[in-house]
Amino acid sequence: MPNTPANDRFLRALRREPVDRTPVWLMRQAGRYLPEYRETRKRAGSFLAMAKNPEIACEVTLQPLARFDLDAAILFSDILTIPDAMGLELYFVEGEGPKFRHPVRDAAAIARLGVPDMETDLRYVMDAVRTIRRELDGKVPLIGFSGSPWTLACYMVEGGGSKDFARIKAMALNDPKALHALLSVNTDAVIAYLSAQRAAGAQALQVFDTWGGVLSPAMYREFSLPYLTRIAGELARGEGAERTRHVGEADARTPLILFGKGNATHLEALAASGADGVGVDWLVELGEAARRTQGKVALQGNLDPATLYGSPEAIRSEVRRALDSYRDGNGGSRDGHVFNLGHGMSPDMDPAHVAVLVDEVHAYSAR
Ligand code: CP3
Repeated sequence: MPNTPANDRFLRALRREPVDRTPVWLMRQAGRYLPEYRETRKRAGSFLAMAKNPEIACEVTLQPLARFDLDAAILFSDILTIPDAMGLELYFVEGEGPKFRHPVRDAAAIARLGVPDMETDLRYVMDAVRTIRRELDGKVPLIGFSGSPWTLACYMVEGGGSKDFARIKAMALNDPKALHALLSVNTDAVIAYLSAQRAAGAQALQVFDTWGGVLSPAMYREFSLPYLTRIAGELARGEGAERTRHVGEADARTPLILFGKGNATHLEALAASGADGVGVDWLVELGEAARRTQGKVALQGNLDPATLYGSPEAIRSEVRRALDSYRDGNGGSRDGHVFNLGHGMSPDMDPAHVAVLVDEVHAYSAR
């Protein structure tokens, strides 16, 4: 299977190479805002049933690509597959989001955790990657992903979503050794998981540090950043699994994007982490992010997802503003920018507005 897709804008932008237009994909581009997704979900029964069935995961991964001129596909799965495979038992309560049957709340529970086996416990994920690569047939690259060690730990300790992160912050203050043990096993699991997805055919990898931004800068530097840096370093060295290469891939390493909500304080550190790209939310100007990272990494982002509630004209104007902000901070060049939202899409968004966004990115950035 040749590894350079017909449309390689996204991979070129991550290497900061020149492209004909700025590539664009959207976090949560597959999901409930699409009627065809809701149809498939009805047939499958639940989100987890969809994610655990490689054919169905493949079908919903491809749904947004059939509608929109997107430059990358992202594996349909979830970040919580790792703790589920560690034995915490993931389930969803309608309207309440993800939950764990067995949260980990103390050092003893943490000591019992181990890295799941990627080709048995998480085989359904690797099978989905292989199936999607085959069905994509080289049209656009496939992104694999994982949660960050800190973000996974938030769900594992809280037992689900949280507003104040009281339990995990109490652990950070009262038993930092236990929390570091948890982050350490999570990091081993994330490296093995991303390496296995790469071996199965993922052509780029993204780590979602969705909750890094709830930490004070000092706590972020203690509990999130070092683990992100370890992931970037070990993936670049090919650790976590044998460094399986696809035919024709020997020349290019699989790029890694570190996405974080509220990560603007740490842009310089993230640019020095060894990652190829850094994903930012809408609380920072792309131009400022570009100036501060000095071309060391590609940048991904960063429209407020709520922009999609605006009129087509308002969406076009916000797209142009973000593209120009990046260019102005990047010495007049649009190279090294992957267009995205600053966080995931919501179920009540209008698919017609997504088309407006995607088409405007390509039209306005054409060069
Ligand atoms: O981007 C994509 O299209 C790829 C698929 C993807 C999903 N989840 C599918 C999904 C990705 C990359 C994720 C990551 C994820 N999951 C994160 C990190 C990114 C982020 O959004 O911050 C987090 C924190 C989770 C945990 C999680 N899973 C939440 C908070 C929810 C939403 C629960 C709800 O009630 O809406 C999920 C479920 C989930 N994961 C859905 C999808 C499409 C909704 C599924 C459904 O109800 O049909």
